[in-house]
Amino acid sequence: MTVSTTPGNLVEKANRYIEKQKETVIQQYRNQYHVMAPVGWINDPNGFVYYKGEYHLFYQFYPYDSAWGPMHWGHAKSTDLIHWEDLPVALAPDQPYDQSGCFSGSAIVKDDALYLMYTGHVEKEGKTYQTQCMAVSTDGIHFEKLPQNPVISEKELGEHGSKHDFRDPKVMSHGGRYYSVIATKSTEDRGRILLFESENLVTWTFKSILLEGTKEQGIMWECPDLFHLDGHDVLIMSPIQWQTQDIAYTNISSTVAFIGEVDWDNGTFSVANYHEIDSGMDFYAPQTCEGPNSRRVMIAWMQMWDRTLPTHDLGHHWAGSMTLPRELHVSENRLIQEPVHEVYEHVTSDHYLEKVTVTADESLHLEDVIKDQSYVKLVITVKDVKNLSIALAPKTSQPLLLTYDHSLQRFQFTREHVGHLLEGNEPGCYVSRQVAVVPTDDQLTIELFKDTSSIETFIGHRAVMTNTFYAIDQLTDFIISVEGTAVIETLQIGGIR
Ligand code: FRU
Repeated sequence: MTVSTTPGNLVEKANRYIEKQKETVIQQYRNQYHVMAPVGWINDPNGFVYYKGEYHLFYQFYPYDSAWGPMHWGHAKSTDLIHWEDLPVALAPDQPYDQSGCFSGSAIVKDDALYLMYTGHVEKEGKTYQTQCMAVSTDGIHFEKLPQNPVISEKELGEHGSKHDFRDPKVMSHGGRYYSVIATKSTEDRGRILLFESENLVTWTFKSILLEGTKEQGIMWECPDLFHLDGHDVLIMSPIQWQTQDIAYTNISSTVAFIGEVDWDNGTFSVANYHEIDSGMDFYAPQTCEGPNSRRVMIAWMQMWDRTLPTHDLGHHWAGSMTLPRELHVSENRLIQEPVHEVYEHVTSDHYLEKVTVTADESLHLEDVIKDQSYVKLVITVKDVKNLSIALAPKTSQPLLLTYDHSLQRFQFTREHVGHLLEGNEPGCYVSRQVAVVPTDDQLTIELFKDTSSIETFIGHRAVMTNTFYAIDQLTDFIISVEGTAVIETLQIGGIR
């Protein structure tokens, strides 16, 4: 087969374009401590890996527009997971087997070299064809696609999945062999995760169907990741159209953690429990990386498919951001997420209160304490509270609201009246969402990580809600009001530098 474009040309073209165009990006809604592309569109995190003492993060990237297009892999690296340095584009769709896009994938280190495993996406006569490909680098910056590509194609896939939807390989090593979990679907449109194995990362064979979903669990599963943590195996993935169950899975596409055990002889996953990973409106395609001391860190795309995107509509030349990296643990068959400890080194404490009672007649109103980058930690006793409301409020227009209904034991986040309306393809959940939270010893511990256009809410290490918003009036004030009586045990408000 002859190669139609000189490899590297499209990478260089993208890098030249980025260098020239990054100054045109409008800063108004740009986040400061979240990974973003210098210009253009991003979606899924890819190739999240710890390599030669640094975290590398790649991402689905279309530099030429603030909308999705033929996918490249953007690249950034960091030593502390908070400050990221932009690196040149790693992959561009420059080969016949990936000519319509280098789709999502992962990274692994072998013999000091960094290997990327990604999906080659080809569109032909109205149909898509997907195969798995590899690229390698010895400097962690410049990548060469393997001459053996694609390394997993229709031949190895056989009848085990759909060659039109066969993507997002997550590569790993286990027991001296390499494995890759890859998303596909059955002929009845059920999500399916396949397991492939290899001795050398180049020759792959089909091992098994690791897990298949039910009709309710979505029409296709995307972006699988499999890891061992705290004595359990964890399979995370991003299903399309998982059916809503009460207040869970209300986004058009969800993210789910399956906790259980892999039988590596048979290549099957037995499920002990599963749950939605994040209860916000903007969290998709999470991927994890193993850092030093076996720490497991997860990062996700802080967006959702099929939403209106103000930065695109307003011509700001960028769209999309990653979440804050989160350290994972498993407890009681659930995935627990905590902001990585490194972020606390950048948090300031500018306002601090203790033991303040808030009643229906007397709310707490702090003026001008919220900035573009803000951190809030609130420990509050809610024993005698019916309803609690935490507001980040502009001076004259409507606030961003986090409310707690004590009798229902539910938090609700709403951005309904804040700034640009974010519409989606689902009925209503693009303006507000709820999550169940049971207080611990009558107390709630709430942490907010606010960046210019995002807010990640961690509630007692149990629930996390990740949301974006595009305010027109600055959110400056912090207000707590209640029905009943609440005691603010501690309240810290600061910045994130
Ligand atoms: C998930 C996804 C992946 C695919 C990529 C394309 O958001 O649809 O399945 O590889 O995005 O950009």
